[in-house]
Formats: sequence, structure tokens, C-alpha cells
Amino acid sequence: MSTGYEFRVEGHLDEHWTRVLDGFSVRHAPDGTTTLTGSVLDQAQLHGHLARIRDLGAVLLSLRALPDDAGDRVEMVAVADPLSRVDWPRCTDRLELRPASAQDAEATWRFRRLESVSRWLTVAPADLESYRAVFERPARLATTLVVELDGRVVGDLMLRVEDAWAQREVAEQAREAQAELGWVLDPELAGRGYATEAVRELIRICFEELGIRRVVATCFADNEPSWRLMERVGMRRELHAVSDALHRSAGWSDTFAYAVLSTEWSRVG
Ligand SMILES: CC(C)(COP(=O)(O)OP(=O)(O)OC[C@H]1O[C@@H](n2cnc3c(N)ncnc32)[C@H](O)[C@@H]1OP(=O)(O)O)[C@@H](O)C(=O)NCCC(=O)NCCS
Repeated sequence: MSTGYEFRVEGHLDEHWTRVLDGFSVRHAPDGTTTLTGSVLDQAQLHGHLARIRDLGAVLLSLRALPDDAGDRVEMVAVADPLSRVDWPRCTDRLELRPASAQDAEATWRFRRLESVSRWLTVAPADLESYRAVFERPARLATTLVVELDGRVVGDLMLRVEDAWAQREVAEQAREAQAELGWVLDPELAGRGYATEAVRELIRICFEELGIRRVVATCFADNEPSWRLMERVGMRRELHAVSDALHRSAGWSDTFAYAVLSTEWSRVG
């Protein structure tokens, strides 16, 4: 039996979302929020919708099960927040890793504003204020870690936990089975193994503490430092996609996808 749900998210989302959420209706409210209403078959489908909302970067304000024939049943369900399930900070030989906060915007902007860094990143904001608007979004902070060296922020990492693709009948078993990682290091500190050290620790946390079974990462094929890092930490190149991604200055470009399974990690980690 299906259950009706109402998701309320920040901002006015466009009609495209009715396709993203399997036919949910979209209603724009005067307070600048959007309400998506529809029904789900089971918890697995509900969590799939939550993962899609999270992956598309929309900020979820509330989730409500709509009253059914059994009465006025209303419940709130928290959005999965993987970083909150781990104790922080984490220390490696030389570095400290901790979840990012809004106060880290300026420190990360110091290296993210450099062309040699931003040329590989999804967005290249023009100034600190536009960068801050992106960095401080709750959905972004919930998946961002900063890397500190002697108390100074020298890099940041992305950890996005997601459901693996699965057929409907076994979807529950694929929930939060996969994590996608990303990384940025201050170029002043390149070539000393700091990124390797931070990413190794993050992969270890994924497998040993979050129970993830597969860690993935992607990059432009031309971003050699990034894919060399993936290989240093034991990831395997699984995909070379030809001319599938549009780079803002290089045009249509090839991309690589890498992955490592928890069973493999225990052998190389
Ligand atoms: C991707 C990125 C993090 C890689 O940085 P990096 O400095 O090459 O990586 P590390 O810090 O792990 O350093 C590795 C280098 O240090 C050397 N090194 C020295 N000591 C080391 C140690 N203890 N452990 C490992 N490597 C060590 C390695 O041999 C390697 O050198 P090489 O490149 O000459 O082979 C960095 O280039 C970056 O931030 N790029 C811009 C943002 C970006 O592209 N992000 C990814 C988008 S997909």
C-alpha cells in the first residue's frame, strides 16, 4: 500500500522535479519554498527520493507523511547526514580532518579561487561573496570536510553517501552502499603526499566506520594529478567516457571514473 508524503524544500524548484521524483506534484509557496506532494510504495523508495533531493543540492526543510485512513499520522524523518555518524576531528600522521563549517568559506576560497584549482571544479565563482553563497548551503556543508595542517586549512574533501543502483525488490539492501569522494589541496602544498594521506583516511572511515561497500570518484581525463591520486590510494579505473563532459574552457572532454570496494581496500589499505 502506498503512503502519501510531502517534501518541503528551499527555493522555487522548476517542473523538471516532477520527473525527478516520479510524478510528484510541485507547488510554489509565497514564502519562497516548494512543496512536492506524492506517494511512495515503501521506505526504499522514500529514501531514494531523499537521496535524489540531496544529490541535486536542494535543501530539505521538512518531510511529512500525509494523514491516511488510519488517522492523523504525521512524522518527521531526518535527512541522512553521514558526517554526523563519525567522531571528529580525525588525526593522521600530519593532518587533521573535520566537518566544514560556514566559517571555513574564506580559508578554502584562498586556494579554490586560483585558476589552476578551479579549472577542474564544477563551479568557479567570480568572487568570495558568490563562493560563500555556494559553500554555506546546508546541503554542501553536510558533505564537506576540511583538512588542516598545523591548525591551518590546507584542503577540503567531499564525502557524499548515496544509494547504489538496485532493482526495486532489493533496493533496501543497496541503501547508502556507495560513497563518492572529491578533493582539493592548496597547490602551495602539492607534491608532499598530503592529499594522499587525507583521502586514505577518508576511505578508511567510509569502509570501517560508515559500512560503505564501494567508494567512487570521477575526474576529467586531463586532470592527471587527480587520477594519479586515485591510483595511489588503490582505486581502479573503471570507465573512460569519451567526450561526455563539457569543460568551461577546454570544451567537450573525456572523463575517468574510479572505484574501490571494501573487500579490495582491506588488501591494499
Ligand atoms: C588532485 C590534487 C589534490 C592532487 O594533489 P597532489 O599534491 O598531487 O597529491 P599529494 O598531496 O597526495 O602528493 C602526491 C605527490 O607527492 C609525492 N609524495 C611525497 N611524499 C609523499 C608521501 N608521504 N605519500 C604520498 N606521496 C608523497 C608523491 O610522489 C606525489 O608526487 P608526484 O606527483 O611527483 O608523483 C591536487 O592536484 C588538487 O587539489 N588539484 C585541484 C583540484 C582538483 O583537481 N580536484 C579534483 C577534481 S576531480
